Amino acid sequence: MEQRALGRTGARASVIGVGTWQFGTDWGDVPIEDAHALLRGCVDSGVTFVDTADVYGDGRSERFIGSFVNALDEAERPFVATKMGRRVEQRPENYTEEAFLAWNDRSRENLGVDTLDLVQLHCPPTEVLADPATWDALDRMVDEGRIRHYGASVETCEQALLAMERGASTIQIIINLFRRKPLEEVLPAAIDRGVGIIVRVPLASGLLSGRYTRDTSFAACDHRTYNRDGSAFDIGETFSGVPYEVGVDAAAEFTRLCAEFGPEGAAPAQIALKWITQLDGVTTVIPGARNLEQAAANAAAAALPPLSDDFEAALADLYDRRIRAHVHDRW
Ligand SMILES: NC(=O)c1ccc[n+]([C@@H]2O[C@H](COP(=O)([O-])OP(=O)(O)OC[C@H]3O[C@@H](n4cnc5c(N)ncnc54)[C@H](OP(=O)(O)O)[C@@H]3O)[C@@H](O)[C@H]2O)c1
Repeated sequence: MEQRALGRTGARASVIGVGTWQFGTDWGDVPIEDAHALLRGCVDSGVTFVDTADVYGDGRSERFIGSFVNALDEAERPFVATKMGRRVEQRPENYTEEAFLAWNDRSRENLGVDTLDLVQLHCPPTEVLADPATWDALDRMVDEGRIRHYGASVETCEQALLAMERGASTIQIIINLFRRKPLEEVLPAAIDRGVGIIVRVPLASGLLSGRYTRDTSFAACDHRTYNRDGSAFDIGETFSGVPYEVGVDAAAEFTRLCAEFGPEGAAPAQIALKWITQLDGVTTVIPGARNLEQAAANAAAAALPPLSDDFEAALADLYDRRIRAHVHDRW
């Protein structure tokens, strides 16, 4: 698997990593044995970057990762990126240095390490990103050996640019075939500043696998049911903010384009991931996987041949016709 420099951190990350929101309970229940088998499969496929958060299953995802990673030999250990800040009401005054330290203590305990590889602010209010005190507190956490690096996970391109300007080493942002705005300014700025780009929701919450129909239903505890209207958190996190029926129809067209232009034998989900890895400025893509088969297929996408210019033109046209009006000026 290709490994890329994670911005200026000095760390390296596999071009396909793995997201582990699925180990929480917002998508149903993944038992610990399955989570460990999935992570084992990822490591065996060359994945060296794992994304989690203190809020996924209220610590369950971090604990599953900690128990897996700490049993590995040093040479096999992946880089583990976690996040903090979504276990409290989203008000700027809740983002105090005291809170940062408490959140950090809990994540270090869950992950079973003294020093976290990377902590990301977890889509905080813009005021938190703009406040110099936020970044000063993170600098002190590095000095104290609590974290090696810090970054921000953000909703909008404006927030990404702001966090980079304030000194984030990494930015986590949604980019996929249905979310192209970050290609305009965020990726060029990341290259200029030496910031690592971690791409989340690369499959538009699974839409780009082409498996769902208008009649597909998801579990009641799955955010694709309960956040479809954005009532629990930013609607852009669920199906990438694309109205479900619009997304299903666009994904069906994407599947047809894959058959016409794509590498033979590659599944749409793999082609959707490959497209992201080809973008200049992207460090790692973190598809969420529910089982070992999905994780293995996702890792294998790294080795696909490059997508052709004709394919890219058809994909850009699909976005312009079906998706742009729903999302482009929003995030
Ligand atoms: N605010 C934030 O910082 C934030 C927000 C969202 C996500 N994240 C991170 O980003 C990661 C990825 O985002 P995501 O999981 O929300 O969305 P995603 O990666 O776009 O979609 C994940 C879903 O795609 C389907 N899938 C995955 N691999 C597949 C394959 N090979 N073939 C067919 N279907 C496949 C599965 O759907 P089924 O469940 O239907 O099988 C899976 O649950 C998360 O796990 C998390 O680590 C961070």
